[in-house]
Amino acid sequence: MNTEVADIGLIGLAVMGQNLILNMNDHGFKVCAYNRTTEKVKSFIENEAKGTQIIGAFSLEEMVRTLKKPKRVMLLVKAGSAVDEFINKLVPHLSSGDIIIDGGNSDYHDTTRRVVELEKKGILFVGSGVSGGEEGARYGPSLMPGGNPRAWPHIKNIFQAISAKADGEPCCDWVGETGAGHFVKMVHNGIEYGDMQLICEAYHIMRDGLGLNPEEMSNVFDEWNKGDLKSFLIEITRDILRYKNDKGYLLERIRDTAGQKGTGKWTVNAALEYGVPVTLIANSVFARFMSALKNHRVEASKIHKKNIKPFSGDKKQALEHLRKALYAAKIISYAQGFMLLKQAAQEHNWNLNYGGIALMWRGGCIIRSAFLGNIKQAFDKNPNLSDLLLDDFFIKVMHDCQDSLIATLQMALQQRISTPTFSSARDYYDGITCNLSPANLLQAMRDYFGAHTYELMGQEGKFVHTNWTGRGGNVSASTYDA
Ligand code: 6PG
Repeated sequence: MNTEVADIGLIGLAVMGQNLILNMNDHGFKVCAYNRTTEKVKSFIENEAKGTQIIGAFSLEEMVRTLKKPKRVMLLVKAGSAVDEFINKLVPHLSSGDIIIDGGNSDYHDTTRRVVELEKKGILFVGSGVSGGEEGARYGPSLMPGGNPRAWPHIKNIFQAISAKADGEPCCDWVGETGAGHFVKMVHNGIEYGDMQLICEAYHIMRDGLGLNPEEMSNVFDEWNKGDLKSFLIEITRDILRYKNDKGYLLERIRDTAGQKGTGKWTVNAALEYGVPVTLIANSVFARFMSALKNHRVEASKIHKKNIKPFSGDKKQALEHLRKALYAAKIISYAQGFMLLKQAAQEHNWNLNYGGIALMWRGGCIIRSAFLGNIKQAFDKNPNLSDLLLDDFFIKVMHDCQDSLIATLQMALQQRISTPTFSSARDYYDGITCNLSPANLLQAMRDYFGAHTYELMGQEGKFVHTNWTGRGGNVSASTYDA
């Protein structure tokens, strides 16, 4: 076996691992492949990797020996304990300055811990978001690396070469320290949940509200994919709706329950932890929980009868409202996602480049879309933009689309179609643009029953208590921030 000939070692020959290796090979990098079950290595080398310069290793020691210095090892294994197990087995074979990259959907807290622990041993750890599924991995994923910044100069060439390109630029750049890369990937997935749920609600409205058949719905998505909504998820929805086999349309026979691996839920956990109203993604996670209650829903639907009149309006007009409503709701969702990124950056001292993140998501990944180009432009124009809804382009779109969002919700309401994400977009928009919320009453109630104090208008920061009933004392409860 040759020593120090390979540019990178990759552990984990499941679908993502194999395709990333082939992608790296296409770009001229020599990859050494390893898998815990070594028969997979043999089979990969004899089949998919046949005729390439990819080499196989049958033990970790052997793999590490083949690598040039600094040694670079990428893990594409199941997130969680498997990552720690491989790190523990690898470390004795590595030396100071060598690099381990985790390309799975790991929890960013774990990544932070691994960066810190490995730094003490001189090993540079990177947690990288990898998005785009099988095809992305093979022909150009979106890559979101973060962790020990000293690793970046040594992996930049490979990462930017194999990543997707948008307008000629790589959809990959250094995200930030510790768990920043995996945090950004987690928010990407949260947004993916939101986008998918919005599309599902649009489909539900077309199917049950407007009575469109699969072919008609597919044509609508095809049209939408030519304009502002052009995106990977709209495109695959068009194709899914059209897909037929000998039993007819496949979609009609797929059970209406959806699973999840957890990244959407983590996004919502982070939103709760950092106090950011990421309501649309939260509702999309709850919608998946609701979908899983299939038997419950079937039973309840037999008992709770509704009085629904068939839609009698102008379908063409309703579809145009729906298109604009989807555009508006997407803007709200991304505005919330970027707000979460901003807050997390502040908490963790990450110097995030928001335009750069939009570019990373512009191509290769599941949420890739034309619209991310507009987000990039907004942050390029003003890198300190606090909220996408304050950018001129998005202000104009919201002004143009908000009435359609309302019209769509009114129609869904009449048709009794549940629209958790469209509704939360409307709620959020009317909440974040409301100059006088009813929280003055909330403050008063808290003070009334618990002496929690309140601030007076124009006297921010000064907390006072009122003895509302004349029976309570004048002592206030200690205030605290959750
Ligand atoms: C991607 C995807 C990928 C995966 C999701 C699925 O960016 O390529 O996000 O990571 O499809 O993790 O997540 P759920 O199983 O939770 O829907």
